[in-house]
Amino acid sequence: MTDAYAGLLRRMAAMRGCDRMLSGVRPVSMTEHLDAVRATLAPDSLPDFYGEGGPVEALELRVAELLGTEAAVFFPTGTMAQQVAIRYGAELTGRTTVGLHPLSHLVLHERDAYAVLGGLRAVRTTTAPRNPTAGEVAELAEPIGTLLLELPLRDAGFVLPTWDELVAVVAAARAAGARVHLDGARLWESTPRLGHPAAAVAGLFDSTYVSFYKSLGGISGAALAGEAGLIRYAREWRHRYGGTLFQQWPAAAAGLVGLDRELPRLPGYVAHATAVAAALAGLPGARVYPTPPHTHQFRLWLPYPADRLNAANLALAEEERAWFVGGWQDTEVPGLAMAEVTVAAPALDLDATQVADLGGRFLRRLAAT
Ligand SMILES: Cc1ncc(COP(=O)(O)O)c(C=O)c1O
Repeated sequence: MTDAYAGLLRRMAAMRGCDRMLSGVRPVSMTEHLDAVRATLAPDSLPDFYGEGGPVEALELRVAELLGTEAAVFFPTGTMAQQVAIRYGAELTGRTTVGLHPLSHLVLHERDAYAVLGGLRAVRTTTAPRNPTAGEVAELAEPIGTLLLELPLRDAGFVLPTWDELVAVVAAARAAGARVHLDGARLWESTPRLGHPAAAVAGLFDSTYVSFYKSLGGISGAALAGEAGLIRYAREWRHRYGGTLFQQWPAAAAGLVGLDRELPRLPGYVAHATAVAAALAGLPGARVYPTPPHTHQFRLWLPYPADRLNAANLALAEEERAWFVGGWQDTEVPGLAMAEVTVAAPALDLDATQVADLGGRFLRRLAAT
């Protein structure tokens, strides 16, 4: 076992032991996952077989209905699904360039798969820490086959454009002859601020990827949604990429559980995030961004080194059964660290005063380390 995994196990055990938690969700054990899935399965129902039938097909139909698209296809990962979506754009337009943000998941976290496996080339859409504007897309120096927008842009602080900005940037891409693809890993929680349902957002795009294991709390997996021709193509390429697994029912069934249970709760988390962010901003030396948060996730900075913040948070959890915020990372400013805060079900139990109290307890523990 690596030290990193041992550390993760320790943090997960500490979180499971907490009776109050500000950021994140209580880690789910394997048996809890299976129990939740089992409760939704009809007795003697049979699994999927190489992507057909069972919970996989049920989930595909559900996603297509939610996003208002002709069809959807299940993928083991979003990494694979999005490579297929932008490859399709390149084939249709004859352009192997993709408009990508330098902070997008494809650029930062996928080992350059779009280039190495897909033979595609990135055209940077903007250097600003937000999705590109219509003007920036209209003025790109090179033609692009597909413009990819990540909503919200996680590595810029989970930031969203306004609805009007989104409509305008999509129109600018189309005017330049490009297709538009939505990285909707966190689309589910973007709808309150955008002020439009998921189907209206997906309706702006040629293809949409959504995830089942982030805010929906599933096991793994993704779906690509769009018109029938895209989905036929995606099934071929999923097979070529090695993504048409013999059976994927646990992940798909957990995705259905997430759509039933978590999706309706997300607007409540987003609303509560405003109060939590305001309370955290009142802690000595703290900064939060964006204010108010655009979804139920946002960034928090504190003027201490990350290792001290992580150690204090773990000690608070192990000794006082309270989880403040984990996952601190050092920034380019020495002695200033940043963490991503996720306001989910456990945080709903804490009002603004309790958030401030928990923050105070955390800072006192920090001072003692
Ligand atoms: C914005 C975004 N896009 C794509 C992905 C890829 O998803 P997967 O882990 O299913 O490959 C992630 C995963 O964290 C993500 O955050």
